Amino acid sequence: MSGRGQVSFRNIERTYGSFAALKGVNFDIREGEFFALLGPSGSGKSTTLRILAGLDAPTSGQVLIDGADVTAVDARDRDIAMVFQSYALYPHMTVAQNIAFPLEMSRLPKAEIGPAVQDAARKVKIEHLLDRKPGQLSGGQQQRVALARAIVRKAKLFLLDEPLSNLDAKLRLETRAELKKLQRALGVTAVYVTHDQEEAMTLADRMAVFMGGEIQQIGTPAEVFARPNSIDIAGFIGNPPMNLIPARYVDGDVIVGGHRLKTGSTLTGERDVVVGLRPGALRVAADGVPARVDLIEDLGDTAILDLDCAGTLLRMRVSDIEIPNEGDTIKVTARPQDVHLFDPATKARL
Ligand SMILES: Nc1ncnc2c1ncn2[C@@H]1O[C@H](COP(=O)(O)OP(=O)(O)OP(=O)(O)O)[C@@H](O)[C@H]1O
Ligand SMILES: [Mg+2]
Repeated sequence: MSGRGQVSFRNIERTYGSFAALKGVNFDIREGEFFALLGPSGSGKSTTLRILAGLDAPTSGQVLIDGADVTAVDARDRDIAMVFQSYALYPHMTVAQNIAFPLEMSRLPKAEIGPAVQDAARKVKIEHLLDRKPGQLSGGQQQRVALARAIVRKAKLFLLDEPLSNLDAKLRLETRAELKKLQRALGVTAVYVTHDQEEAMTLADRMAVFMGGEIQQIGTPAEVFARPNSIDIAGFIGNPPMNLIPARYVDGDVIVGGHRLKTGSTLTGERDVVVGLRPGALRVAADGVPARVDLIEDLGDTAILDLDCAGTLLRMRVSDIEIPNEGDTIKVTARPQDVHLFDPATKARL
């Protein structure tokens, strides 16, 4: 199977009056890939998705689907299914009628609609709800109806804009896992908008991190987590995010809280840097930097410690067996390969 749901954005710009919502966005999404658009509120994720769907037009640039320039192609002719944040189900129709709606719009023969609805409902496990109205369903069930209505069309591209945001925490986790399985089983390309980095990390094959109308990094979740390419990304990815500490770099070491910490860097000389340390990468060690435990947030299986390290706040993740007491002073360090360095002026990774 080739040419099914491959997407490219070429220098896409979108301005509203004098405001640039997208400032030259480029990416290539592979066929069958689960691709997340991740970023804070207002960074341009929904605008990007709407332009891909054909619901909005770029000010300049090209949108390619399966190699064809579709920038001027109408939304209805792009073979795309979309699930929005609000499910937008028709309240007066039954679940079955809601799912059948896109097929009726495309004038599929009646005899084919029934089985297609059954099939889509079975895939998202709502066969037993087909006769109900949306008002008689829980939020999670409504969410699945919206998904069924999207998959019933067998579109080659599946666009989802914060589809789980109305669900409670437990249901969000369950639906997230089901969504991933469903996407794999259908073999469709999915483009998924979220501001929740955990959601992007767990669902996506690759993700594009948006900030201020630009993509700052594209990669697998593991790549972006392991090597954030700027201070902004480092501070956005991870929960809690990376500790970012202004420090002095001297020939391979950094000086943090008056102590030397080895880095993996081969840069020579002296300079100001921002040191990045993941909360989970900090370790207790006899020759570590002294830090006072100011606060313990117990999460059950792990805890987050707020440490005061010579006036600098450091957050550290520890497992339950090694939780100290508030007020204790512990000594912390990190392996050289876990010490990230950034340029304070350009914010870029060093
Ligand atoms: N029709 C419009 N007119 C003017 N500005 C707009 C319009 N649509 C979006 N914007 C602006 O463009 C920027 C990007 O909006 P967009 O909806 O893409 O953000 P987002 O990343 O999806 O954010 P969120 O996570 O809050 O949904 C925002 O600053 C927004 O205010
Ligand atoms: Mg949005």
